[in-house]
Order: sequence, then structure tokens, then C-alpha cells
Amino acid sequence: MADLEGNASAKQFHADQPAVRFTQNIRGAANLDWGMQNRLSRILDPQTGRTVMLAFDHGYFQGPTSGLERIDLNIAPLAAHADALMGTRGALRTSIPPATRAGLVLRASGGPSILKDLSDEYTAMAMQDAVRLHADAVAVQVFVGGEHESRSIRNLTTLVDQGYDAGIPVLGVTAVGKELVRDARYLGLATRIIAELGAQLVKTYYCEEGFEDVVAGCPVPVIMAGGKKLPELDALTMASNAVRAGAAGVDMGRNIFQSAHPAAMMQAVRAVVHDDTDPADAYELFREATETRVLA
Ligand code: 5RP
Repeated sequence: MADLEGNASAKQFHADQPAVRFTQNIRGAANLDWGMQNRLSRILDPQTGRTVMLAFDHGYFQGPTSGLERIDLNIAPLAAHADALMGTRGALRTSIPPATRAGLVLRASGGPSILKDLSDEYTAMAMQDAVRLHADAVAVQVFVGGEHESRSIRNLTTLVDQGYDAGIPVLGVTAVGKELVRDARYLGLATRIIAELGAQLVKTYYCEEGFEDVVAGCPVPVIMAGGKKLPELDALTMASNAVRAGAAGVDMGRNIFQSAHPAAMMQAVRAVVHDDTDPADAYELFREATETRVLA
């Protein structure tokens, strides 16, 4: 029996105040269900609307990548510095602590290895397993202009439909074939197709010319893909240029786990993304953190 003692009758209705409208600064999410918006806010920091996502899903098509030989040793210690993790269900269940607090983006497409045509992908995980793993989004590769372009789009739309049922957003990843040019025209085409077909997040590469137009033309948050390992200052500069052009943060893998000091690099990237720190100053943070480590 509920305790009726002290159950004073309600009086303070504030009839002069309209209902509070809780809005989030997540592009294109205003009409999504509460669960979708809640999961997106576990990926994109509600204060900045941006994310520092740590990508370690490389193994789904290229096996043990340099810096990912042991995800339990290479990645698990970095999870605390990430707003979100992007990995496979296999890596998660075997190598990431269940107590991890970071948002979780699960790789849900796959098929060919690096030995074959990478565009020949299918969906590779049931949405029910994403639910079971408490995922905040699932990721799918979209090969606009690739040999199996239409199937990759079908993979996307299948997961989007299943995602609406489960309340789980989809991150569409632009996969740029070697024969294609990563310019604003191509990236603008690919990101817009992905968003128009229902993805709630898009991940794509940065381009020097016109990236702000790529972002402006995409009606959902654009997260910058890290790409191949660069010198730390170059990677920090690219991340800064991307967020200053409107990107909702970065999803970096090799530029973190192939750095000589991954934790220091994560912190420097966080400064650029969440504090708008200039790349040169963020790089000094990186150097100081590494020198401190050496001295310690
Ligand atoms: C391929 C991917 C990879 O799976 C991975 O996420 C890439 O990360 P990075 O380029 O930062 O090493 O998304 O498109």
C-alpha cells in the first residue's frame, strides 16, 4: 500500500507558465522519438552538440590492424576519454568492459575483406543484437559510386527501418572508393543521399574546399572521419577545420591508436572539438602530456 502519510495535495501548477520545450542542438532530430534523441545525446555531447568518437571497428574487414592487435589493451584504457565508441559486437563482447559509460555505435555492415571488393557488403548484425548490447546507434558503410552502390543503400535503409522500430539511430558512413575523388561535390552527394534515406548521423571525410557546404547541405549531424594516420598536429588541424566548418565532431581510429601516445592524443582532440582550442595549442597539450609521462 503506498504510504499516504505526508501526501500533501498538489497546489503549485504554475498555470502562467507554458510547458517547457526541451530542445537539443542535434540537427534534424527534433521530430524523432524520445528514445532516439536520448541515444543521440549519448553520442553527441549535449553541451557542445559534438562528439569525440573512438573508432576501432577496422577488424571487420581488415583483421588485426597496427595499433589494434589487442583491443583489450589498446582500446579499453582509452574508452574513458571518448564520448562514444565505434566497434564491432565481437570486439565489444570480448574486449571492452561492460561498465563502460561511453556512447556505443556498433558496426552493422560487413562482408568482403580487404582481399576483395569492399563495396560488396551486406547487413552483418540483427538490430535485436544492437538492442541486446544497449547500442546508441549502428553504423553502415555506404558506397555511393561503388560497384555495389545499390546494395549498400539497401543495407542502409534496412537498418534505418529496423532502427525506427527499436529506437536506435543509424550512422551512415561514406565509403569513398579508390577511383573516386574526396571533393565537396562527391562528399556532398554521398552525405545527402545517406541523410535523405533516413540515417540520423553521417560520417564522412574532410575536404579542404567546400566542407562547410557539405555540412550545410546535410540535414543531420556530419561527423568527420579520421582517415589514415597523420602527424598529430595535422590531424588536430584537420579536426579543428572540420568542427569550425560545422561538423558535429570527429570519429577517429588510426589517428588515435597509431599515435605514440593515444591517451594524450584523445585529450588534445577533445580540446579541439569541445573547447574550440586552436590546433597548435592542442598540440602543445599533447606534447606536455607526453613529456609528463616520460618524466613520471
Ligand atoms: C571505414 C571505417 C573504418 O571502419 C574505421 O572506422 C575508420 O577509422 P579511421 O579512418 O579513423 O582509422 O569507417 O570507412
